[in-house]
Amino acid sequence: MSHHLKPQTVIFEKGYDPQLSEGAAVPPVFRTSTFVFRTAEQGKRAFEIAYGLRPAEPGESPALIYTRVNNPNAEMVEDKVVAWDGTEAAALFSSGMGAISNSCLAFLRPGDTLAFSDPVYGGTEYFFRHLLPAFHIRTIPFPVGTPEAELDELVRRDPTIKIIYLESPANPTMKLADIPAARRVADRHSTPDRRILLFVDNTFMGPIFCRPKEFGADVILYSGTKFIGGHSDIVAGLALASRELMGPIKVTRTILGANAAPDTAWLILRSLSTLQIRMEQQQENARRVVAFLQSHPKVVRVAYPGDPAMGESQVELWRRQCLGTGSIISFFVEGGEKQAFAVLDRVRLMKLAVSLGGVESLIEHPHTMTHSDMTEQEKAHAGITPSMIRISVGLEDPEDLIADLGQALDVLP
Ligand SMILES: Cc1ncc(COP(=O)(O)O)c(C=O)c1O
Repeated sequence: MSHHLKPQTVIFEKGYDPQLSEGAAVPPVFRTSTFVFRTAEQGKRAFEIAYGLRPAEPGESPALIYTRVNNPNAEMVEDKVVAWDGTEAAALFSSGMGAISNSCLAFLRPGDTLAFSDPVYGGTEYFFRHLLPAFHIRTIPFPVGTPEAELDELVRRDPTIKIIYLESPANPTMKLADIPAARRVADRHSTPDRRILLFVDNTFMGPIFCRPKEFGADVILYSGTKFIGGHSDIVAGLALASRELMGPIKVTRTILGANAAPDTAWLILRSLSTLQIRMEQQQENARRVVAFLQSHPKVVRVAYPGDPAMGESQVELWRRQCLGTGSIISFFVEGGEKQAFAVLDRVRLMKLAVSLGGVESLIEHPHTMTHSDMTEQEKAHAGITPSMIRISVGLEDPEDLIADLGQALDVLP
C-alpha cells in the first residue's frame, strides 16, 4: 500500500501475526521462561545475535531463547512503539529506571563523564549523583535551559563527556531542555574516537507531544509506568534508538536482568491503542485546570509548558520542539510547606500519590516526596520550593477536578 499509515494505525497493524498464535485476534500472554529451538543450529544463531557476536542478517528473524533475553509480548511492544518516535528499534524494561540505568551503563565506562540537565526525576538524580560516581563515572549537572554557548563551553572543556542527558520537560519544574542545541553541541565535539551520545527522557510529553528523534536524540527513554502504561497498574520502561545503539542496550538488559514480565508487556500492548486518545483528552482537561489555577488568588505561579509564565525563551522552545502541552502541571501556592500540605490533605478526587500519566488524577509534593533526596541547596537552585505542588491530570471531568482543587485552595488563609 503506497498510502503512508499514521502511528495510531501502525500500532494496530504491526508487531503481531495472529497466524502465529492459532488465529487469536488479540495476542495471548506468552507466560513462559524458555523457548524450544527447532534445531541446534537455530539455537546457535539465536545466541550469536542475542550476545552481539554478529548482527542479524537482513530479513533474519532470530529464534526466541529465554524470557530474560526476549519474549513475544515484549517484542510486540517494541515493534509497535517505534511507530511514534520513528526509531529503528526499542527495548522494553522492567521500569523506567531500568531503561535509564541500563542504557547509560551500555555506553559509559570508568573515566567517562555524563553531563545532565538539572533537575531530573529523583531516581535518575540518585543514579547520577550516587551510583555512577561509585563506578568512577563522573556526572555533572547543568541547569535545564542552559544557553547553547554555555553547554558548548562545558562540553568543549571536558573531553571525557560521553553522554549528554536531557529530561524535557524537567520533572517537576516543567522547563524544557533544548534538544537541537544539545545535538549541535554533541556533533561539534564528537570525534572518530569519541562519539558523544544524546539521551532524552521524553516521559512527560510521551511520544504524542514530542518526537526527540526528529531533533537528533540518539536514545529516547520513557518510564512506561506513566502515559504508555497509562492506568497506574504496571511499572515498566522503554529505550528507543537505532539498531546499532540498541545492540549494547539489549545485551546490558539481558545481563542485568531488567526485562519486563510478559504480563506487563501484554498490559502495555492493550494500553498502546488508547495512548493518543488518552494523552489528548488528559491535555484538554489539564488546560482547563491550568486556566483555573492561574485565576486563583492563592496560586502564585503555574508552571506549564508553552505558557507565557515560563518565559519567552521557553515559549519559543516549546513552539519549535513540542506538539502539545501535556497534562502535568506544577504550581506554587502562597506560603510554604504548611499551606501546600493543607491543599494536598484536602483534595478528595485527586489521589495523594507520586507517579503520573495514569487515567486518574494524582497530586504530590516534590520537595518532600519525589525530589526529597536532593539537598536543600540543589532543590533551591532547581526551583523546587516547599510551596510547589505537582499534579497529573487524568480523565475525570475537569469541572469536578476544578471544584475539588477550588475547595482545597479556598481554605488557605
Ligand atoms: C521523568 C521520569 N523519568 C523516569 C522515571 C522513572 O520511571 P519508573 O518509576 O518507571 O522507574 C520517572 C518516574 O517518576 C519520571 O518521572
